[in-house]
Amino acid sequence: MQIEPIKQKCSLLMREVCTQLQAIHVDQLERKWITISLLVIGLFVGIITLDALFHGINPPSKVETIESASLHLSQEFAEDNLGVQVDANGKVVVRMVAGRYSFFPKHIDVPAETPLTFRWVSMDVLHGVHIPMTNMSTMIVPGYVAEITTVFPKPGEYPLLCNEYCGLGHNHMWSNVSVIAKENWKAPVKSSAKGVSTNE
Ligand code: CUA
Repeated sequence: MQIEPIKQKCSLLMREVCTQLQAIHVDQLERKWITISLLVIGLFVGIITLDALFHGINPPSKVETIESASLHLSQEFAEDNLGVQVDANGKVVVRMVAGRYSFFPKHIDVPAETPLTFRWVSMDVLHGVHIPMTNMSTMIVPGYVAEITTVFPKPGEYPLLCNEYCGLGHNHMWSNVSVIAKENWKAPVKSSAKGVSTNE
């Protein structure tokens, strides 16, 4: 295929569009507002780009797939592995399963001022997870692992709610998160006994 003629056609078209645009009368005030809205769009795109590049803020599901129907047979999300664990590197990992109409486990104790990696999977339909008054919110899409790392700055009791309509029991779908002062929190014993991290 010949590139040159296409290039020529494109530049001709561009020139045509430019002259047409210049021919349109745009009021001075209108021009000002067009510029302002373009600047605002530019600002937002810039913020998103900077967050993605420097703060690692990405869409929640990093295309890590999992078989929803056999979660109980999977190593990572088998019943014994759910809840809070400390892996070999000292990283606190919370694994939870969402299913109509609850999060399992129903209650977790986590330390304050500590990076926590939450890993969620759904065993049936689309759910969401949201902790009010924190920045933590993600969808839990069946077939994918949703992962978020967050820090709770202050101890307290937090509800963990489903925020995607998932059926008639949707508004009863919640768990409790107890955030405990760092010095009072003890790693669950089962983590050291099991110590399996199947993140590989
Ligand atoms: Cu689960 Cu709404």
